[in-house]
Amino acid sequence: EGLLAAGGPLVGRHVLITSGPTHEPIDPVRYIANRSSGKQGHAIARAAAAAGARVTLVSGPVNLPDPFGVAVVQVESARDMLAAVEQALPADIAIFAAAVADWRVANAGTQKIKKNGGALPALSLAENPDILATIAHRNAGRPQLVVGFAAETQNVIDNAQKKLARKGCDLIVANDVSPANGVMGGDRNTVHLVTASGVDTWPTLSKADVAEKLMAHLARMIEVRP
Ligand code: CTP
Ligand code: CA
Repeated sequence: EGLLAAGGPLVGRHVLITSGPTHEPIDPVRYIANRSSGKQGHAIARAAAAAGARVTLVSGPVNLPDPFGVAVVQVESARDMLAAVEQALPADIAIFAAAVADWRVANAGTQKIKKNGGALPALSLAENPDILATIAHRNAGRPQLVVGFAAETQNVIDNAQKKLARKGCDLIVANDVSPANGVMGGDRNTVHLVTASGVDTWPTLSKADVAEKLMAHLARMIEVRP
């Protein structure tokens, strides 16, 4: 690393990637989050840049350096992430690797919630917008290739196939995020590429290798689908 790719299969393409968790505020000092580290999404951004693409990375809060040669937009909540994605479009390829919080706190406090003599605060939740589905179902300005992830702890393939159909994307990268697998926060990943035409299970690889292999695969897909 250290040199920008002079060529590569994605020269002239814009690749948009989401990465990391989102933080959903409970009050000004507290939030709901998840265990996503952003390592896989950031590795994909790095691989896309290495393949010659112009890359925009919309990232939730992570403890990772900005990938070299990538435009990084930092966001906190799911709604902020959707706005940043819409701002960054158009793109040729969009890859939604973020672990977006499914729910936000509908009654978030504008001031720090105080203990109140043993009375417990009740959080009421509202569903967040589905960023991937919103973009994939667009008629005008839909990226040529829309890629989602599926984070599952059971029935990985079956759930991923349902997500592929429901969200209207071209490809789902499915991974088993059960704690025993060490995917969330770890450096390795075992993924299944799920499309309408079948399932391709890759061996366990470093997240960097998954990213490189995925970008090579997408570069071939976009070539044959002008
Ligand atoms: N996703 C998104 N916006 C959301 C929720 C999910 O863009 N509000 C995207 C993720 O980035 C991922 C894909 O949708 O690419 C699947 O996310 P996942 O959490 O596995 O699926 P959900 O549809 O949220 O369903 P569930 O969590 O109930 O399995
Ligand atoms: Ca989810």
